[in-house]
Amino acid sequence: MNQQRMETLDADPSIITVQQHILAEQRKHSPGASGAFSWLLSGITLATKMTQAQVRRAGLLDVTGAAGQINVQGEAQQKLDIFADQALIHCLGFRQNVAVIASEENEQAIMFDGRSGQGKYVVVFDPLDGSSNIDVNVSVGTTFSILAMPEDLPADADPAAAVLQPGIKQLAAGYVVYGSSTILVYTTGHGVHGFTLDPSVGAYVLSHENIRMPEAGKYYSSNDGYWDSYPQVYCDFISDLRRGAYGRPYPQRYIGSLVADFHRTLLTGGIFLYPPTESNPQGKLRLLYEANPVAFIAEQAGGVASDGTRRIMEIEPEQIHQRTPFIVGGKTEMAAFDQAMAKQ
Ligand code: AHG
Ligand code: MN
Ligand code: MN
Repeated sequence: MNQQRMETLDADPSIITVQQHILAEQRKHSPGASGAFSWLLSGITLATKMTQAQVRRAGLLDVTGAAGQINVQGEAQQKLDIFADQALIHCLGFRQNVAVIASEENEQAIMFDGRSGQGKYVVVFDPLDGSSNIDVNVSVGTTFSILAMPEDLPADADPAAAVLQPGIKQLAAGYVVYGSSTILVYTTGHGVHGFTLDPSVGAYVLSHENIRMPEAGKYYSSNDGYWDSYPQVYCDFISDLRRGAYGRPYPQRYIGSLVADFHRTLLTGGIFLYPPTESNPQGKLRLLYEANPVAFIAEQAGGVASDGTRRIMEIEPEQIHQRTPFIVGGKTEMAAFDQAMAKQ
């Protein structure tokens, strides 16, 4: 048997790609589904593969550093922010069933021409999460959330009206972490599943089926550089975590890319906190395309996500880029957090 054949036989032919998985999920949970959803998801996965190809060679391409523009967040846009944003807009533009998109990088929501109406989808996304980490080769990511177009929306309505829906309306959500490997994690409300990009086949391959967040975890994750501006109740709670008041001392881990900090929390448990601070009294993270997709995944994996007092996914959004305090973690840590908040 020649060498080539042996290599082929060594490769495991029984891989399950994310496309196969989403189609199987649809058959299982929505018999007769048209496959429109998996076609939409393939637009997102294609865009993330384009982005990861840039991330992987960032130092060799002219994609690091600032692009010289300030985005709607008031932040210096990185070249990779723009590339990732354009890749998603381009790929979703070819999905006829996507009517409206909203991106962290664009002030307004975008309605694709002539696509309002029933059976259409809305996609909101943060094309490149963790931008400050790009130039120093630390994990970054993409987050996305998929909603249904509201049925009663007039064709000439402001596309923002289609986007401003609470997290409980999400049909699906996910993120990609461009880390030591590139992992896509998604949920359609039937559990959480992870896929690792296999460069040898160019596909996201099922690697983490039915991810469950540990009830009690190891680390707490917050940027303690803002300690002096955190509300006191957060300082007290974090001090209690550190000194072992909840079982044993919790060491701190903080990467500064939400997707990476959350992905670790999802797999190893614990708690991530981005409280209100002096510079961001409403919190820094954006409700629609950072907190909501992560909260959907956390809840589907058995975790909890709040803004300190409310379930994140029940917050009625008023603006596309509105920010929120964001605390997400395993049942044990989030119960302790809720108790600490109730006592204040
Ligand atoms: P983005 O790069 O999309 O603006 O998001 C960055 C966010 C989030 O990824 C991370 O959790 C947080 O900013 C880190 O903020 P600090 O640098 O203030 O800790
Ligand atoms: Mn972000
Ligand atoms: Mn971003």
